[in-house]
Amino acid sequence: MKISWNDFVKQCESCQACPLGATRTNVVIYRGSVVAPIMFVGEGPGATEDEQGLPFVGQAGRLLQLLLDAQGFSTENYHIANVVKCRPPENRVPTEQEAAACKKLLGMQILICKPKIIVLLGKTAYTLFTGDKNAKMTQIRGSFIEKNGYLIMPTFHPAYILRNNNERVKLWKDIEQVRRKAEEMGLMERLPSQPDMPTERPSK
Ligand code: URA
Repeated sequence: MKISWNDFVKQCESCQACPLGATRTNVVIYRGSVVAPIMFVGEGPGATEDEQGLPFVGQAGRLLQLLLDAQGFSTENYHIANVVKCRPPENRVPTEQEAAACKKLLGMQILICKPKIIVLLGKTAYTLFTGDKNAKMTQIRGSFIEKNGYLIMPTFHPAYILRNNNERVKLWKDIEQVRRKAEEMGLMERLPSQPDMPTERPSK
């Protein structure tokens, strides 16, 4: 059955499939374009995201945005979402039950958006997509895998990079690989020259 974006949003807004629905201020669905070729999937909204109803608008989001801007991504290139659409209290990791309850909505989101490339930001997203709970991000990041017709790039969560700034170059390289692949596939315009990695730290 085909579902429209508006109906999908209504389903998200009325969702009470797990206890996070009771404590949210806003359901956090996406930012970017609803027909973008590249989807980024994080973990779950934090306080700022819950307040604004948009994903990745807090400090980790500002780091992600810094890297995306520097790599020449524009709003129509990406769709940013999360494993869960409601804020887990105290910014804890969503439980398996919460992630499972929200999976149907993320599945619908992917079917509507039809991305060609999916970037998994951190272990929670990787586990949801692959079922692998024991993977080490340091070992699996940076290489594309193919799953159900999607090209998938697992990489570090930007919040991890905020705590481990010396690893920033790895997230940068992974995003660069995504950009190059998107260019090769004709999904993004080619950048005229290789950008430099931004080194600033986003303010809190
Ligand atoms: N971390 C996430 O995983 N998602 C957000 O939207 C913000 C921070």
